[in-house]
Amino acid sequence: MESGKESMASRERPIYIVGNWKMYHTIQTSLEFLNELIPKVREAVCRIYLAVPFTSIGPMAKDIEENDSNIVIGAQNMHNASEGAFTGEIAAKMLVEAGAEFVILGHSERRRLFHEDNAFINAKVKRALTDGLQPILCIGETSQEREDGMTNEVLKRQLTECLDDIPAEQLENVLLSYEPIWAIGTDKPATPEIAQESHHFCREFLAELGGKEVADKMSILYGGSVKVDNAKALLDQPDIDGLLIGGASLSAVTFNEIISKAAAESGLEDVKADSDTAVEL
Ligand code: PGA
Repeated sequence: MESGKESMASRERPIYIVGNWKMYHTIQTSLEFLNELIPKVREAVCRIYLAVPFTSIGPMAKDIEENDSNIVIGAQNMHNASEGAFTGEIAAKMLVEAGAEFVILGHSERRRLFHEDNAFINAKVKRALTDGLQPILCIGETSQEREDGMTNEVLKRQLTECLDDIPAEQLENVLLSYEPIWAIGTDKPATPEIAQESHHFCREFLAELGGKEVADKMSILYGGSVKVDNAKALLDQPDIDGLLIGGASLSAVTFNEIISKAAAESGLEDVKADSDTAVEL
């Protein structure tokens, strides 16, 4: 397979910097985080998304609106039904009402710890699209699968099953996140070359599913131990259109430093990070 260097320049697609807070931050600390981040990222050209605990969505969305901020709030999971007797679950329309604009689906922690399978995730992706939430679909292989040379097969199966029966014109609204499970929370990120190879494989397979034009428009994010010092090298890759960040998104300072890398990567000269925190690029 080709390296992907000749595929459409990634900067024709927007850069997404997405924080995944997991089960961290109370309402109070979420608002403190926003208070610190909002003024720093007003000029950012990348799309800044924060996937936060359910309880923080409403208060953060309100704060963002009041401050006329470009930050977008979303959820980390939801149920596929529109409503019903599902104790402890949450529906897409409830998230939308609270102010969420996107939802992470199929994160490996949901798959591994809560036994979510591709069919369930597919139903959730469809529900999110129907009810007005942009899905961020996570896929990725285990270290064993990579050692066994199964990576592409695993990615292909996850894409086929999680995106089953979704028409090409709707695929464009899906953000894909490649998250090798061995890289999540381990401080062992994929090298930019390994990530690029998998992203390129995904884009070629998306072209088979929805056509080349759709695949070229779709943004593919990388997640797994993204830090300030590896963000730029990852974003330099032609098929890496953004980053899904766990641990390093919990501090407004670190998250903003990663956003600064994305600003530099976009190549727009008039984009500067906040002068207090801008880092040397
Ligand atoms: P990490 O998490 O950045 O802490 O590795 C990434 C994720 O789980 O999305």
